[in-house]
This record gives sequence, structure tokens and C-alpha cells, in this order.
Amino acid sequence: MMNFRKTGILAGLALGVSVLALNAYASEATVPPVPAEFPAEGKIKYVARDSILEFKALPEYHEPDWVTKNFVAAGKLPPVKDRLPKEPMVFKTGNMPDGIGVYGDTMRHVIGGRPEGWNYGAGQTQGWGGIDIGLSECLTRTAPLFQVEAKDTEPLPNLAKSWDWSADGHKLTMHLVEGAKWSDGAPFNADDIMFYWDDEVIDPNVSPLGGGASPEAFGAGTTLKKIDDYTVEWTFKEAFPKQYLYTMSYPNFCPGPSHILKPQHPKYSKNTYDQFKNAFPPEFMNMPVMGAWVPVEYRSDDIIVMRRNPYYWKVDEKGNQLPYLNELHYKLSTWADRDVQAVAGSADISNLEQPENFVASLKRAAEKTAPARLAFGPRLIGYNLRMNFSANGWGNPDERGQAIRELNRNEDFRKAVTMALDRKAIGDSLVKGPFTAIYAGGLSSGTSFYDRNSTVYYPFDLAGAKAELAKAGLKDTDGDGIVNFPAGTLGGKNVEIVMLITNQYTTDKSLAEGVVAQMEKLGLKIVINGLDGTKRDDAHYSGRWDWLIQRNTTELSSVVQNTEQLAPVGPRTSWNHRAGKDDKLDLMPFETELVDVVNKFTTSQSNEERVNLMKQYQKISTEHVNTVGLTEYPGALIINKRFSNVPQGTPIFMFNWAEDSVIRERLWVAADKQGKYELFPEQLPGKPGDKGPIN
Ligand code: GLA
Ligand code: CA
Repeated sequence: MMNFRKTGILAGLALGVSVLALNAYASEATVPPVPAEFPAEGKIKYVARDSILEFKALPEYHEPDWVTKNFVAAGKLPPVKDRLPKEPMVFKTGNMPDGIGVYGDTMRHVIGGRPEGWNYGAGQTQGWGGIDIGLSECLTRTAPLFQVEAKDTEPLPNLAKSWDWSADGHKLTMHLVEGAKWSDGAPFNADDIMFYWDDEVIDPNVSPLGGGASPEAFGAGTTLKKIDDYTVEWTFKEAFPKQYLYTMSYPNFCPGPSHILKPQHPKYSKNTYDQFKNAFPPEFMNMPVMGAWVPVEYRSDDIIVMRRNPYYWKVDEKGNQLPYLNELHYKLSTWADRDVQAVAGSADISNLEQPENFVASLKRAAEKTAPARLAFGPRLIGYNLRMNFSANGWGNPDERGQAIRELNRNEDFRKAVTMALDRKAIGDSLVKGPFTAIYAGGLSSGTSFYDRNSTVYYPFDLAGAKAELAKAGLKDTDGDGIVNFPAGTLGGKNVEIVMLITNQYTTDKSLAEGVVAQMEKLGLKIVINGLDGTKRDDAHYSGRWDWLIQRNTTELSSVVQNTEQLAPVGPRTSWNHRAGKDDKLDLMPFETELVDVVNKFTTSQSNEERVNLMKQYQKISTEHVNTVGLTEYPGALIINKRFSNVPQGTPIFMFNWAEDSVIRERLWVAADKQGKYELFPEQLPGKPGDKGPIN
């Protein structure tokens, strides 16, 4: 069938859609221009939150025949009913786009990252692209909420199958799924939760992946204790801080297997913290997980293979143990290759997020013979230039670095930078057409909390920008085109700023080059420090940077997810302002206002008030140039047509990435469409640390 919307986009591209030239004298702060209309293609089918899943016992349970025959009948594995919890999670058929599925086949991913190891809780990356999302199960889950009306929204239960608040709202009792097991058959219980909290989150020497799981992300003074094997109790200083239910989802509360991790932790062994972190290198196979697939094969720079978890604790309404898919692949390649392979059909899924690949991908996907579906969602992918606001020692800057921090904290300087950016040109350098929009910074225009009239935009105005720079005390005293520090600072040298970026994405590099060129016209010399993902994150979180370019994270695309990252509400919650050596934050007045707004939002019980608070947030944040917006645009989910149960309109990014929003454990492939991609047919994960799967 012809997709008219897609044809429309292509036609628009052919005509070279042009937007009126910007008013050359516009230097007054205003609201951002109305972006070119970009109709999201897959319309989301909204559902009630409780129509997605429930926990209950079913009269019978099933598994793939080969598991029964080769493993259960051979005495290698207990019967499926004994491997499942008392009341497994049941996905409701009514919420499945194509209904109950069949077993078999593989989902082939391509990723640009590389695994550091399997110790997620100690901060190791597995290479992104949905790999850690699939391994980790968290107390709550939010990715599927994109299909739930905002007013109905509260995180879905997951490892915590239910919870209740005390009458005064200060205590939250969580009931864990009872009798669930890790993929090696060891029991999952409150000890896993407590190990994660006490020895990973609270222990200052360990920081879980994502950078957000610091104790203050759950509120200052919050405590957690075990009541019994399947009950834990939170105590909060504030009443009813329901916002933390979001913090308990990915990536911040996804406990690892304490029976394997604890013996390596320095508190319980002779290991150093470094040895603990590195105790499970990529070669360590069959790491126990609560997720639907277990890593069984790793070939460096080639592939990671996962096989189905025989103890997975989720089923469909007929009692079929999930997942339907037997195997997952993660080819270790590049992010750009992910798009190419997904549209070509040699891989199965991609988040089309790099505009440089839009046109070629759209053209291929519009062909009748295209193996993959491609559907654009709302404009939720955005980029910000962030300035390091710490002047009290985060990252231990030298004299030059410290002088840049002082500049970053100068509002005239920030205005100069934002006014010197020609965002239309930046967007067009990524892709021509109706995709990119002028982004002033702050909340993403794709979130329901966005309010254009509360957004302060400083239009492109180079002369005005230069005047702001002069106000900040910067002049080109030696006439080489680059402004100099005042004589008393660094001997009046040229101002030179180091900008941290990841070098694994074409888009990040294109944006960085655009910023460098435009800043040069302003009179600022920017030096790019491009690092691979892991090293870049290390440099970022340890504060060793002046400026950085960052793809937006969930607090800007959803507001309710990772809300604490919207402002420096704690010593380690903000992306660009963390505490110095004395663990203190040297907040600027507008940041104190932002913190106040975010804290109120976190504990507010009224939707109307929350909407208003986010209007205030947006106003303060954009007026004071808390972040320098660069561009924003929609992304498209590319997924092979043979998969069933892909929810219509799944955005590639909202509460989480699409790899989680599509609910992979529920995806299936009709028998006559199944590919022969399984590398380890009829095999299951072996013992932790053993080489490869078993049969
Ligand atoms: C990377 C990719 C995203 C997404 C995430 C998942 O960041 O660029 O598209 O796959 O990994 O963690
Ligand atoms: Ca100079």
C-alpha cells in the first residue's frame, strides 16, 4: 500500500522546502518560531494503564517444545511451572497489537558501542542500543507509558508487583514478585534490592550506569529497608513523592544478581573497587539476569549473542512463558551502520536518529520491496550545548579551565553564545526539509509539558552577540579575531574552550563542527575533544570539560522520567553542574529557582500545578540560557516487517528508548516468516562464567 505521508515528505524534500529568511535585525528575546509541521506517522493508540499487564497465577504454563524435550524431560531443568513465580506477570492479549504469538526466530540488533563488562550496577556499559535495557529489569517500568494518556500515567509495576503508601505519605511499601528466579535459577528477593541500594547506590565508591542513580535521585534523606524476602519499605522526608516511582524504573533501580556480585564487592572480599567493577568482563558468559535473554557468546568487534532465559517470569494469557523470540543478536559495528542494515533487512531494528541518514532511509523504506517499516514520531530528539557551571572544583580545572567556568557563569557570555548561533543553518547542515526545528533549549517541544509561550528564544544576531561578549569583558586585544581574557586573567591570552563530544555519532560531529565555525565568527576559539562513548562519559561525569554537546536525555523528552536531572537538586543530579570537592554546589540565583521548581514538581499532587511549574521551569531555564539549544527533530523507528506485536506509533525516545517501548519480550514472528538466524538453535544459557550456551 502507498504511504501518502511518506510520499509527502519525499516530495517536500525534492522541492527543497525553504523557510523564510530570518529577520536580520531581530535581536530582541522572543518565542521560538513555529516549526514546520511534521505529522507523526504512526498514530498512537491510547490505552488505560491497567489494560497492559497484571500479575496472576494461570491454570497451566507452556514453553517451546524443544525446552520440554531436551531440557525438562532430560532432567536438566525443572518443569516450567516450577521455574515461574507464584504469580507471574501476565501480558494482556487485549493490549497486544497482533495477539498471542508463537515461539522462534531472532531479533538482530546493530550497535555502535562496545561492552566494558556485565557489571551494570558498578557503572559498566554493555554497548547501549538496548542491550543493557534487555538484561536489566527494574522495580518499575515506564517505557510502555507512551501509549497511556498523560492523566492516567503512573509507572507500571515490574519487579515490584504492587505498592502502597502509608496514610501520611512518608512510607512506601513495595511487594516484590514472589518466587521469581534469576536466569541461573537462583532466587530473586529483597536481598538483591538491598545489595543494590546499600552497596551500589549508597556506597560512594560505586556509581551505577547512567550517572543518575545517586541516593539523592530518590530524595534527600530517603531510606530503604527490607521487611521480609518479598517486601521492602521506603521512607521519604516528603509526603507522597510519587515522582520517585519513575526513578525506580530504568536506568536507576535495576538490581543485579547479588548472589554473584556480593562475593566480589570490597565490603565482603579483599577486592578493590576497581577489581569489583571489572570482575565480569565481556568474556564472562551466562551472567545471571532477570531479563528475557542471557548473554551466551561474545566475539570482540563482531557480535554478542543472547539466548532465551529459561526462568523468565513473564507469560501471555495462555500461559506461554515469554519471550517468544529465542535469540537476540547485537552486531558490534557503528550506529550509522545500524540504519543502513535495518532498512536493507540484514538487521531488524534501528532508531533512525541521525538526520544525515534520513533521506536515503526514507527512499529505501518507501519502495514496495522494502523489508522494514519506517515510521516517524514527534520531534523528541534534541541536542544541547552545555556549559560547565561549577566554579568550586568539580573536575579539578586548571587556571584556564577555571577562567572558562567563570565565563560560563556569566549571563552576558551565555547570551552572546546563544545569539551567535544560526540554528537554521545548523539544522540544514544535518538534513534539508521539514525535519529540524529551531530549539531554544530547555524542555523538548515534543513533550506534553512544553509551552512555546513560556520559551525565551534569542534569535540569531551576530552583532548583538558581539555586544554581549563585550559586556562580559571580552575583547580581541591583539587583533587575531579571537577575543582575549582581560589582562589580569591568564596574561590576557586568547579565550580557548575545549568542547567534549562523543565521536561515535555523525550527528554529534556535524553539530560540533557547526558550533566551532559559528563561534569563530563570534570570536571564540573552540577545540573539539572527541572521545568514544565510555571515555566521553567518564570525562563528563568526572567534570573534566568546559563545554559539551549532549543528545537530550529523558528528563527533557518526558519531564517525569529522571526529573532530578532537570536541575542541580542534589550534588550529582545535573548534567552540567555537580558538587565540587567539599560536596557543595555553588548555585547561581536562577539555578536556585530551577531547583525550587523541580522540587515542588516532584512532590506536587496536582496535575494543573505540575503543568504550571514546568512553564516556570521553561521560562527560567531559557531566559537565563541554562542550556544552549542547538536543534531538534523527529526520529523514526525502523523495524523489520516480519515482527508482530509492534505497538503502533512507538516513539524512538520518550520515557525510554524504543527497544524498551516495543516490549521485546512480547514480539513474535509468524511461523512462515521466521528467518534462519539462530546461531545456537535449541540451546539454553549455561552456568554463570561457563563458556557459551548448553544443549
Ligand atoms: C544508543 C542509541 C539509541 C538507543 C540507545 C539505547 O544511545 O544511539 O538509539 O538505541 O543506545 O540505550
Ligand atoms: Ca585575540
